[in-house]
Amino acid sequence: MILQRKRILLIISGGIAAYKSLDLIRRLRERGASVRPVMTAGAQAFVTPLAVGALAADKVFTELFSREDEQDVGHIRLARDCDLILIAPATADLMAKMANGHADDLASTILLATDKPVLAAPAMNPKMWTHPATQRNHQTLVGDGIHFIGPTSGEMAESGEKGEGRMAEPLEIVAAVEALLDTGDKPLAGKKAIVTSGPTHEPIDPVRYIANRSSGKQGHAIAAELARLGAEVTLVSGPVTIPDPKGVTTIHVERAEDMRDAVLANLPADIAVMVAAVADWRVASAAGNKIKKQPGEAPPPLILAENPDILKTIGRHPQRPTLVVGFAAETQNVAENGRSKLERKGADYIIANDVSPETGIMGGDRNRVKVIGKAGDEDWPEMGKQVVAERIARLIASHFA
Ligand code: CTP
Repeated sequence: MILQRKRILLIISGGIAAYKSLDLIRRLRERGASVRPVMTAGAQAFVTPLAVGALAADKVFTELFSREDEQDVGHIRLARDCDLILIAPATADLMAKMANGHADDLASTILLATDKPVLAAPAMNPKMWTHPATQRNHQTLVGDGIHFIGPTSGEMAESGEKGEGRMAEPLEIVAAVEALLDTGDKPLAGKKAIVTSGPTHEPIDPVRYIANRSSGKQGHAIAAELARLGAEVTLVSGPVTIPDPKGVTTIHVERAEDMRDAVLANLPADIAVMVAAVADWRVASAAGNKIKKQPGEAPPPLILAENPDILKTIGRHPQRPTLVVGFAAETQNVAENGRSKLERKGADYIIANDVSPETGIMGGDRNRVKVIGKAGDEDWPEMGKQVVAERIARLIASHFA
């Protein structure tokens, strides 16, 4: 919706990631944007203007001193007749030119002449990205108001080297473009949402507890996104070290039972998103005083009792919210386990992720999810938790459109 009739000037500079720009053009256009491509000389060594022009359904601009183009459109008009300039990939060289105000080809001249928002998706070898010169240029550009998405870490296409330097995925770039062009449309205005986030702490005694590795990053980001789309959001958060999101009412709890009570106290609601990693078990009777070691005695046994299932309670509640979304943290059979949770807990969607330690998802900044709905599954590529949150919030909003 946001990209409908938006004009994106896409600058492609010379890197192997330029092949991803072809997909990026498609993704932008299928959301209703028009894409006018500009290619540097380097870019044309990786993808042809013919392919770029065909996907964009527009002329590809490559020359600064083209008499024909200057009379027709001109570099100043290219720089101004758009809603946003997107650079993908942005090479170390183009960033260096921008940081120093060079204007020796069409792309750099446009970037110097524009008064529109500029979003750059850097892509380069990890050593080039971490080089002090590039880092300095990056800082300068951030200070100049240039927006960045990525780079992300992973294996490089050409050398197999690992590290930060990969261009963000096309869908992540699209989400960043949408966030920048979002004029504050509030599709969830008037809707009430309850979100749970973080772990729960189940006391053993006054000083010890059972917990898990959840950081709250994904749940907090979803709460903030729903609020940004206009919803009135109550976030019920377990113990986390991240700040309360802006624009959201946050209730802090420790135990699963407190989390359930806080959620139920906030019904009725239109939307429930249960992201918390609720402890499945609590200690059946937590000690009132610190349990002491007794010389010669065996360690005390921990007798566990099952905690209430908050998602299931909400999914089957007489005041069930219109849309109920749960998460599924799995380490195996993600799709099957996720689907069975969808049915068992009465949810409309389950966002399933593989939280095996090697994925680094639990506690980390990135996520790779499978969205399981009544109509079918959708695999989303790995992306930042913030971008996952934006997409989940949009998915929720689409149900109230
Ligand atoms: N959930 C909940 N209350 C619980 C346990 C889980 O509300 N006591 C919610 C979570 O917030 C999440 C979903 O249920 O939205 C699935 O959580 P998960 O830990 O993956 O599943 P469990 O029900 O705990 O099942 P299992 O541990 O067997 O995988």
